[in-house]
Amino acid sequence: MAKTLAEVIIREMTLNDHEEAVTIWENAEGISVTKSDSRDNIFRFLQRNPGLSLVAEKEGRVLGTVMGGHDGRRGYLHHLAVIPEFRGTGLAKWLVDECLERLREEGIEKCHLFVVKENDRAMRFWNKSGWTRRDELEMFSKEL
Ligand SMILES: CC(C)(COP(=O)(O)OP(=O)(O)OC[C@H]1O[C@@H](n2cnc3c(N)ncnc32)[C@H](O)[C@@H]1OP(=O)(O)O)[C@@H](O)C(=O)NCCC(=O)NCCS
Repeated sequence: MAKTLAEVIIREMTLNDHEEAVTIWENAEGISVTKSDSRDNIFRFLQRNPGLSLVAEKEGRVLGTVMGGHDGRRGYLHHLAVIPEFRGTGLAKWLVDECLERLREEGIEKCHLFVVKENDRAMRFWNKSGWTRRDELEMFSKEL
C-alpha cells in the first residue's frame, strides 16, 4: 500500500537517534558510514550545529534523516536518507526544505552537499529539487 505522510513529524535529531540513524545510513545505498559517524562525532556535530539536523518520525520510528551544518559562510547537508518504504512520498523534500529554512534563518545564503558519483537516484533527486551540479569542481581530502 502506498505510504502517506500522515502522522509523520519532523523534529530535531538528538543523540538518542544515533543508533537508528546509523542503521538507516548503513542500509541506504549511496551513504558511507565511517568513524566520522561514531556517537562521539555525531554528538560534536549536533553541538556545533544546534537545531540543524532533523529526523522524520512516525509513531516513534525514525523514517528519515538529514544533517545540516554551517561554518559561518556556507551551509552543508549530510546524510539525507529515507527508509525505502517511505521513498517517493515527498519526505526527503520536506526534510531538506526544513533544514534549508533553518540555515536561512541563521543567515546562510548558499548550501553545498556531496554526492557519490554512482548515486544516480540521489543525482535525480537533487537535480529535480533545483540544486546545481558543479562540474567545474573536484573534491580533495586529507587525513590529519
Ligand atoms: C535520495 C532520497 C533521499 C530521496 O528520497 P524521497 O523521499 O524518495 O524523495 P521525495 O519523495 O522527497 O522526492 C522529491 C522529489 O524528487 C523526486 N525524486 C525522488 N527520487 C527520485 C528518483 N529516484 N528519480 C527521479 N525523481 C526522484 C520525486 O519525484 C519528487 O519530485 P516531485 O516533487 O516533482 O514529485 C532517497 O532515495 C534515499 O534515501 N536514497 C538513499 C540515500 C541517498 O542516496 N541519499 C542522498 C545522499 S547525497
